[in-house]
Amino acid sequence: MKPTALITGASNGIGLELARIHAAKGDNLILVARSTDKLMALKAELEQKHGISVHVIAKDLSVPDASKAVYDETTAMNVKVDYLINNAGFGDYGMFVDNKWDKEAQMIQLNMTALTQMTKLYLQDMVKRGSGRIMNVASTGAFQPAPSMAVYCATKAYVLSFSEAVNNEVSDKGVSITALCPGATTTGFEAAADMGNSNLFKGSMVASAKSVAEYGYKAMMSGEAVAVHGWMNYIMVNSSRFVPRNLVVKIARKVIGSK
Ligand SMILES: NC(=O)c1ccc[n+]([C@@H]2O[C@H](COP(=O)([O-])OP(=O)(O)OC[C@H]3O[C@@H](n4cnc5c(N)ncnc54)[C@H](OP(=O)(O)O)[C@@H]3O)[C@@H](O)[C@H]2O)c1
Repeated sequence: MKPTALITGASNGIGLELARIHAAKGDNLILVARSTDKLMALKAELEQKHGISVHVIAKDLSVPDASKAVYDETTAMNVKVDYLINNAGFGDYGMFVDNKWDKEAQMIQLNMTALTQMTKLYLQDMVKRGSGRIMNVASTGAFQPAPSMAVYCATKAYVLSFSEAVNNEVSDKGVSITALCPGATTTGFEAAADMGNSNLFKGSMVASAKSVAEYGYKAMMSGEAVAVHGWMNYIMVNSSRFVPRNLVVKIARKVIGSK
């Protein structure tokens, strides 16, 4: 039987490229996001090209218990999820004091709560079976506090810390959890976070979604705990450990800029 990969946020960007990679490997797919049209188009493309089976679940994961609804749907279908990729997420740019609470509350729910609930539900099945791989998409922003993206980077610090800890807990159970940490990547992220004024997406260092997805796939398949995409990002996140914390925050503010 073909393995099945469940990918959240598969309608665009990194998640869409991860769906293409899994499809090319011959994996069946469960694709989750809000944009039904985009998911249906991707289903048609991948089924036709690779002879796999793709199931679409159109769901807003920022609604409480949406992850449970996804889990119940796949359980009712009797599908065994071999790879869980918690990729859906978004950011918000600007000073915390000015930004809108509704967007921040949705972000916290999606980036942290939905990801955590999804991990718990599928991890329990994986541990019972003694096999499975999970990828949680964090960010290089997980490694330091970031003025102008205070809430977003805090959610990603949570994803990184949570993923590393639980990966350790299940390390002898045949299951791995990889925290993928991309830097700035060309996707719908910049627009969704309203980052038009930021320096972050201006340099030549901005990665393609395809290269991040390929890197993340390999890291997940080899069971790496933390995978930072790009050597400059790797140096940056590690060097922050040797610099006083208040200076790290100041540098982060300069790099990210402000509205
Ligand atoms: N791009 C970057 O620079 C960057 C850097 C570091 C980390 N990341 C992380 O990478 C992950 C993927 O983002 P991306 O860069 O590929 O951005 P993207 O192109 O905007 O894709 C985000 C995906 O998440 C889905 N999504 C958003 N809100 C959702 C909701 N409420 N319920 C269900 N799905 C939702 C979107 O689909 P719908 O709109 O159809 O729901 C879309 O498929 C995110 O976790 C992001 O934080 C991105």
